[in-house]
Amino acid sequence: MTEAVDRPATLTLPTTRDHPFDPPAELLRLRAERPMHPLAFPDGHQGWLVTDYTLIRAIMADPRFSSRQELRHVPFDHPLGKTLPPPAEPGTFIRMDAPEHTRYRSELTAQFTVRRMRALEPRITEIVESHAQAMREQGRPADLVSSFALPIPSRVICELLGVSYDQREVFQEATRDLLQLQGTPEKFAAAFTSIEEFLTELILVKRAAPTDDILGGLITDTELTDLELRNIAVVLLIAGHETTANMLGLGALALLRNPDQLALLRADPTLIDGAVEELLRYLSIIQFGAIRAALEDVELGGETITAGQTLVLSLPAANRDPERFADPDRLDVTRDSVRHLSFGHGIHQCLGQQLARVEMRVGFSTLLREFPDLRLAVEPHEVPLRTDMAIYGVHSLPVTW
Ligand code: HEM
Repeated sequence: MTEAVDRPATLTLPTTRDHPFDPPAELLRLRAERPMHPLAFPDGHQGWLVTDYTLIRAIMADPRFSSRQELRHVPFDHPLGKTLPPPAEPGTFIRMDAPEHTRYRSELTAQFTVRRMRALEPRITEIVESHAQAMREQGRPADLVSSFALPIPSRVICELLGVSYDQREVFQEATRDLLQLQGTPEKFAAAFTSIEEFLTELILVKRAAPTDDILGGLITDTELTDLELRNIAVVLLIAGHETTANMLGLGALALLRNPDQLALLRADPTLIDGAVEELLRYLSIIQFGAIRAALEDVELGGETITAGQTLVLSLPAANRDPERFADPDRLDVTRDSVRHLSFGHGIHQCLGQQLARVEMRVGFSTLLREFPDLRLAVEPHEVPLRTDMAIYGVHSLPVTW
């Protein structure tokens, strides 16, 4: 496969933010120029940065663009980004194309339906309320991340999968190390090993005595091997807690920093569903976007993409595209039909999106109801932002009430 492009790629992925909620200004400037730009990758590869909403949506739905791990160059400095990675292990379906991806995804789709997630709502409400109460009892000021945003989705995904919540340190710490941009290869490898060993052990225990949860169901109802089950569990456990946790933490900060929007939501709690969608759009926590590799030469957006080139699909840029959203840089909880790309699009569209929606709806509603005068306990500029992580958010959020 050739690496040639018409123009030499000198641009590197813009990552510096001027404002905690806005994508890098450089990214938005590039989007205003043209829908895609040649991009230089740290390993020397020349690929593309795509910033246009319509184009990104089209690429995500186009089988000529692959999610296969071994084809995708890493667009930011990362300990494992110096060379192309090996193919994904069996079960790691997020890094596969059809038909391999389809086989795994179809075993899981039934577990994550809207109906099933809505049925979970009472239990999620119990979990959210118990954490709100614990935060209150612990006293002011509290860190909203460690006492609310992180434990809620962690506990929910543990219960769904049948993982003991007592083991949360293992997977929360491993996830932190895996998502860190400036970690060492050794730290990264150790994090992978610890989460894999923990889940290998769990699958063995469940194989011996199947339980009534998603992993137990997959063991009983499918022909999946232990290695496949282990890797599916790794994907679900990591994707299932860290994403929603960051939306809850950063979302709470965004509401506190936009008092007019917070007041609207407090005055009319029925706005919550739209507010969740708007926060997903406005905050775009998957901050570097989805990544694909071209399987063949493709003409798109007035450019020729060459087979083998990696494309960074900037979800933050797409979600602020003025062609798609009026006044895109404004948080507006009353916005109509927010068809954002924060859960992706096409065959890899987020499997856990209905679960995440319920957790956010119940999470934000409870927080606003239980803490009517919630406010920051530090100056806004003192809140530590996750600019050093693949998933954006806040490291901690000191609040008082
Ligand atoms: C896929 C975002 C919550 C499980 C994705 C993708 C995005 C995304 C953008 C597509 C990746 C791509 O196309 O390459 C988010 C956000 C979340 C969230 C913003 C929270 C607000 C969850 C939860 C789960 C989950 C709670 C729980 C199981 C997955 C899985 C995939 C995925 C398994 C891969 C699907 C596939 O490859 O078929 N997510 N996610 N996500 N997400 Fe989420």
